[in-house]
Amino acid sequence: EKGGYEHFMLKEIYEQPRSVADCMRGRVNADSGLLVLGGLRDYVDKLAKTKRIVIVACGTSWHAGLVAEYIFEELARINVEVEYASEFRYRNPIIKEGDFVIAISQSGETADTLAAIELAKSKGATIIGVCNVVGSSIPRATHAGAYTHAGPEIGVASTKAFTAQVTVLAMMAIAVARKKGTLHEDTFRRLLFELERIPSKIETVLKTDEKIKEIAAQFKDSRNFIYLGRGYNFPVALEGALKLKEISYIHAEGYPAAEMKHGPIALIDEEMPVVFIATKDSSYEKVVSNIQEVKARKGKVIAIVTEGDKLIPTMADYTIEIPAMHEALIPLVATIPLQLLSYHIAVLRGCNVDQPRNLAKSVTVE
Ligand code: M6R
Repeated sequence: EKGGYEHFMLKEIYEQPRSVADCMRGRVNADSGLLVLGGLRDYVDKLAKTKRIVIVACGTSWHAGLVAEYIFEELARINVEVEYASEFRYRNPIIKEGDFVIAISQSGETADTLAAIELAKSKGATIIGVCNVVGSSIPRATHAGAYTHAGPEIGVASTKAFTAQVTVLAMMAIAVARKKGTLHEDTFRRLLFELERIPSKIETVLKTDEKIKEIAAQFKDSRNFIYLGRGYNFPVALEGALKLKEISYIHAEGYPAAEMKHGPIALIDEEMPVVFIATKDSSYEKVVSNIQEVKARKGKVIAIVTEGDKLIPTMADYTIEIPAMHEALIPLVATIPLQLLSYHIAVLRGCNVDQPRNLAKSVTVE
């Protein structure tokens, strides 16, 4: 059932070219300019008119929500707030009629996310679900939604569910932005074209697995890790750190790269590995100077860079290349090497990657 892989997590990482393609099947066609999310047909119009979207989720799904915040705000110019479902439900959150709540959940059974939905519904919000498990509790509690179609995810660490969530949310943001008129037709076409190419770009990154394994061997005994990224890559940094801590039990923190100098920089010495997501995007130069700051303090830098980058390899201790793509879609591909890095580190440390200690696949208690 593991299809020849040693663990479900590895199988699920390798399934991503297919799961992302499955998620877009029948929904995107760049040649004909098609973008449809069947379950949201009647809601794209309303989303285009809303003033505010609140996203509720937990864990990795919350990270997908952060990526969505950046995409929605940039393309559709809609105010988006991303909330931990557990915090949202225990305050007295401000929700007005006309507000949209997007609930993201792989399992569709997370207790806090479900409770946040019920609360928002009672206050008059329209709830859209982005879930993987068909017929689970969350999709049944929402007004509308789009499934991620990633197939069953068995490993406790979420991998292919995350990339499918980001794919669905990107499709939603693009559809809403087009309807709203904030997206130029050329950019719309280009984004569809770029979406269609994501599966093959993930495939390319999977081919660097041997190199990632070698890097993992260098750092398997580290006690701490820092992950840094800016813009669309900030949530990728958070996700990389979560993946590492949950399966390898190494303490890891993700930060926006610019926040480093507001505290975490004090942690940096020759023992500290710092993973930078340093792709060629609008924050590239800024991230380059953050890398210099880490090197000046003798930190060990592992950098995810865009193919052909000549500068960062002269500064970083290790680099992993990913293909170039539209900035908004980088998280779909930049996450892959971080999944593999944590997987290999955990295996080298002898950890039970599919069922890490203290964790359950879905958190159905508060
Ligand atoms: O099923 P959900 O997406 O609602 O689950 C949310 C979190 O419990 C989940 O993403 C958790 O953080 C994962 N173990 C992360 O890999």
